[in-house]
Amino acid sequence: MKSLRLQLRFLLPLAILLVAAAYITVPLVDKLTLRWFLRDLDIRAAFVADTLRNNLVNQPGELTVDSLQAEFNRAIRDERLLGIGLCDRAGKLLLHTPGFPDRVDCMGIHRPDRRNGNGLSWSQGELHFAAIPFEAGPFVEDRLIVLHDLSFVYRRSEDSRQYMIIFFVGLGLAIALVTVLVAHVSWRGWVAGTRALLRGESLLKPFQPPPELQVVASDLRAMLREMDEERRTRMANEAWSAERLRNLLQTELRGEQVIVVSNREPYIHGRKGEAIEVQRPASGLVTAIEPVMRACSGTWIAHGSGGADRETVDRNDHVMVPPGQPSYTLRRIWLSEEEEQGYYYGFANEGMWPLCHLAHVRPVFRQSDWEYYKAINQRFADAVVAEARTDDPVVLVQDYHFALLPAMLREKLPNATIITFWHIPWPNPESFGVCPWHEEILRGMLGSSILGFHTRFHCRNFLESVDRFLEARIRLEESTVTFDGALTQVKSYPISIHWPVGEEAEQRPPIDACRQALRDRLGLDAKQLVAVGIDRFDYTKGIIERFHAVDRLITKYPELRGQFTFAQFAAPTRSALDEYQLFVEQATKLADRINRRHGTPRWQPIQLIAENQDAEQVTSHFRGADVCVVTSLHDGMNLVAKEFVAAREDLRGVLVLSEFTGAARELDAALIVNPYDVERTADAIYHGLTMSAAEQAERMRSLRSIVSEDNIYRWAANMLLDAARMRRNERISARLSGEGR
Ligand code: F6P
Repeated sequence: MKSLRLQLRFLLPLAILLVAAAYITVPLVDKLTLRWFLRDLDIRAAFVADTLRNNLVNQPGELTVDSLQAEFNRAIRDERLLGIGLCDRAGKLLLHTPGFPDRVDCMGIHRPDRRNGNGLSWSQGELHFAAIPFEAGPFVEDRLIVLHDLSFVYRRSEDSRQYMIIFFVGLGLAIALVTVLVAHVSWRGWVAGTRALLRGESLLKPFQPPPELQVVASDLRAMLREMDEERRTRMANEAWSAERLRNLLQTELRGEQVIVVSNREPYIHGRKGEAIEVQRPASGLVTAIEPVMRACSGTWIAHGSGGADRETVDRNDHVMVPPGQPSYTLRRIWLSEEEEQGYYYGFANEGMWPLCHLAHVRPVFRQSDWEYYKAINQRFADAVVAEARTDDPVVLVQDYHFALLPAMLREKLPNATIITFWHIPWPNPESFGVCPWHEEILRGMLGSSILGFHTRFHCRNFLESVDRFLEARIRLEESTVTFDGALTQVKSYPISIHWPVGEEAEQRPPIDACRQALRDRLGLDAKQLVAVGIDRFDYTKGIIERFHAVDRLITKYPELRGQFTFAQFAAPTRSALDEYQLFVEQATKLADRINRRHGTPRWQPIQLIAENQDAEQVTSHFRGADVCVVTSLHDGMNLVAKEFVAAREDLRGVLVLSEFTGAARELDAALIVNPYDVERTADAIYHGLTMSAAEQAERMRSLRSIVSEDNIYRWAANMLLDAARMRRNERISARLSGEGR
């Protein structure tokens, strides 16, 4: 549409120019051709006169009026020669052929209209007269009047006028067609190039617009660079809070609707006797997304897994949360037992979970689980469409439960900005390739506008998997994939936690009280050193490895006997799965064995508490511990480590952290360990327990400055700002191509 308007702007003056050219040229050419024809007739008339004279001279006998008349009559058999007359010197018409106009002014032949060599000629209507001096026999100083039919000249002139007009119209149409084609091709090229530029594709292979548009392109580039630069500076300098995130949504995203999709719901309504009680699940995902949703006031779509969930929703399956201070909508999706078994326990947790974690547990892939996984992804995608108030909401898809959902959603809401965040690691292509549906999973994920992982390493693994299994264009420098004509930005966004400040931080129980509470909870006296582990009871968390490390610790440093306890709080999780039941059994047996080996009737080195702890309890345990042990065998981020740091404003406490967590890439002031290396892990725990207060403070200060700055609001803001930039660029390119939104 836009290119058409531009073309019209060019074509209109062209049309005017052509009409003007035709207006001037056609009469000119007309006049010229008429003049050529008249000159032709003059020559012809002279030739007739010459022929006549020769014929008469060569005739035997005397030249008489009759013989002259006969010769004239013979000559006019030529179809264009209408007549011949003879005027004498006195101006009298002496003789003429039949049909010759008898009122030819023989005197007028001296009035020169047009000279033609030695004679005169003139035209009257469709007749052409040529007066040629004639002398033969008795006829002296006479003039022969040769009369030609001029109508054919007018006819030809009319024809040539028409040809000229047809020529100009044809020329105009040809120029217009070529112009439209050239303009269209260069416009499309320009729009495509500008779109690429706006998407940020230009960095690898600079977009080369036609020379006349290069100024615009470089201005556009500079403008975008400036905006991004400004944004980065602003992001880097200011602290992120819920309030600031709310403002960002209003300014950068113009208050667009934000929809979150996750399997786990943030509030579970359950029954305790007659009463309904609300539970918070042990989930890093929920811990991270909940504060963002409070700030965005959007809609969170999740599986309603609680026993009293159905009783607490309205007829649209909505319930406002958090209870007591409602700030966003929770939309619950219902699953049958078979569906939950196939989609959640089966494909997600027996297939994808071990596939993505290098924890040496074989993934299990069943066709029936895959069918459920597809069906439930579609159900959640349909729910997003139903909840969307516009055709372009911002949708935050969470985790490995919904690998297929982005493409399903893209099909129904092509203008939506889909940000998928993968909370767990992404394996290398060899490991990923064992999944029988690896192609479908990649295709599904590439429905996202932005695909986020915790670390660059996982982004690279993903890009390599795409490269291995799909026909897609990958730009490594820009970390983008173009597949099926759509672009996905693959980027790392290290997730974090809500950082408590002000009143919220001050309201937490004092450190001394927490130390005492933890020791009371464990039945220890006040002087006992305590290290804690707080995790879901999951085989990826390295719980068995840390028990081995405690075993080695007590063996290697016997002075700790009776003085140190390791408390493992393990929240039961996915207990319906054999692998998890087996793991709980193994961990429990191992703890018993170690306790039997080192323990006394009054003391046990390991206390394994297989219970879920609520948020307050978790904070309290962290505040009361001397050391926090995180020994995941493989972990996307691990928010436990960050929660521990957030809990210690007293600058005490030591974090022992597995190098195989995403958190280790940021929290390098922790004591970083390889959990498979039992000896070093034991040493690290010992180092933590015996570390000077000054070293603890130095390390903790560094850790706290990282986590407080890179908090959950910055994580969300980074993604939402990228989404806003993408939406802005899409709007500009839509306007450029005339599809303006
Ligand atoms: O680590 C992946 C993850 O989805 C986390 O975000 C979350 O803490 C955990 O798994 C929860 O698992 P589930 O929802 O199966 O209990």
